[in-house]
Amino acid sequence: MKLTTVPQAPLELTDEVLALRAWRMPDMVVYQHAPDEWWVTPLDDELPLIRLNRVGAELLAAIDGQASVGVLLQKFGKWVCGPDGETGRWHLERWSLPRYSLCYFGMEPPTADRHGAKWDLLLQQIREGWSGRHGFEGEAELSAFHVREITKREGHFDTVETTVSHLFREPCDALQGSTYGRLLAKHLRRLGWWTPKPRYLVEVGAGLGYVAREMAKELLPFERQGIRYLFLDLAKPFLESQLALAQEAGWRSGGMQANAEWWPLRDASVDLVIDNENLADMTPVQLSREEVTSNRGATPLHQEAVDWIRRLRLPLEGNLPSEFIFNLGPVRFLAELWRVLKPGGRAVLIEFGIEDGWPSPVKLPGHTEYEVQYTHLRHAARWLGFQERYVELPRFFGLRPDTRLLCTGAAYAIQRVCAAIGKPFAIRAYTEGELLKVLGDMLPKLLGCHYHELIDPAWFGLWDFKVLLLEKPGGTPRASYQETKGFRWYSQR
Ligand SMILES: C[S@@+](CC[C@H](N)C(=O)[O-])C[C@H]1O[C@@H](n2cnc3c(N)ncnc32)[C@H](O)[C@@H]1O
Repeated sequence: MKLTTVPQAPLELTDEVLALRAWRMPDMVVYQHAPDEWWVTPLDDELPLIRLNRVGAELLAAIDGQASVGVLLQKFGKWVCGPDGETGRWHLERWSLPRYSLCYFGMEPPTADRHGAKWDLLLQQIREGWSGRHGFEGEAELSAFHVREITKREGHFDTVETTVSHLFREPCDALQGSTYGRLLAKHLRRLGWWTPKPRYLVEVGAGLGYVAREMAKELLPFERQGIRYLFLDLAKPFLESQLALAQEAGWRSGGMQANAEWWPLRDASVDLVIDNENLADMTPVQLSREEVTSNRGATPLHQEAVDWIRRLRLPLEGNLPSEFIFNLGPVRFLAELWRVLKPGGRAVLIEFGIEDGWPSPVKLPGHTEYEVQYTHLRHAARWLGFQERYVELPRFFGLRPDTRLLCTGAAYAIQRVCAAIGKPFAIRAYTEGELLKVLGDMLPKLLGCHYHELIDPAWFGLWDFKVLLLEKPGGTPRASYQETKGFRWYSQR
């Protein structure tokens, strides 16, 4: 095990700071490594774990919103607080910095509500630190990130961006022993989307390829036979993983390194498209009110966005903000879907998003994604001619809302601790029983592990994830059926 120390610009403990009160960050997981050694994980995983002795643990416990920074300094400042030799002062100078985010110094409590603004602000600051830039980062940033900066697949969905499908990639209690991919296949069957059999299925932005692997398990061999499963992705390392998992699962597969905003496929050549948690990665454009009201974009890209808004007759709200984000990429993607799908072809699009207002940025390490504005996207889908249906992800999958799952923040902290002791630990959605199975004796040494109901926004914000189902009219009339208790009830349409 190697724990290194990175120098930090410390907070100056001025008289003003000493007068503030100190609150410990809620939801903190502390690992008791030895009878007199505890570990805590700073929010920024570039920083080493913090090791504390009993005095250090007492300092942490004393940060309870009652004591001022001055009182804490007096009591703990000169004592060595851990095996690395740092004093209480050293810790007080750092723990409230956004990169550590272990506590908050202020006059007022950061609020009793754990979603309170101040904790969120800390998080936002550290996220801005990741991108190194404030404000809008440019239209080309997202595709450049996926093409150039994703050089390996290992750990990407654990540390850079965790997706819902990644959390549910293995059989889990929250899905009654099923997986995300299997559930998706099952619900597409419920909709009758495997009949007639899609000959060409394209999965866009499939990440590591778990959805394809798991969907294969849900279908019977004869149902899979004759389907060609193609992947379209910007990131080469991901395509390699997708092809490997698809082959392992028995799909006849192929891959294209391409941008989903411009498909390298012929018109009317695809039967079924799956696009899971990828729309927020597509080109955002930051437009000004003037550009939209005058119909004149400042650049060719802005002009394209303004033209779409005008052509679609988007229901814009009365008071346009002076600047706002428009999901140009997702609209281009829909237009491409309309072009490449055969008459009767279908697409399922799943992503987090909003129904009112304008998309906000979501800062992640190395890149920033943008919420999908679903009212606009659905409007565009209908304008293109699609029949569309729309539902929240938990409702679509029929998830049990009250399943209690380990807080994802705690899962990241546990992973860091496990990495330091050389124990494998995967970021997944764990119930308490599942966590015990994975961690065994280690679990009682992890203090502060806490669980949220699956539907609680504090868990993963699942309610923000929506499913958009699109059908291009004009296929041959086919028998449709509903399944009830294993029986199929056919109707002709
Ligand atoms: C957030 S990940 C989702 C991965 C996977 N579907 C999942 O659920 O875990 C986004 C995926 O889309 C790919 N991607 C991002 N932008 C893309 C674009 N414009 N065209 C094609 N693929 C894109 C990424 O490389 C990655 O595989």
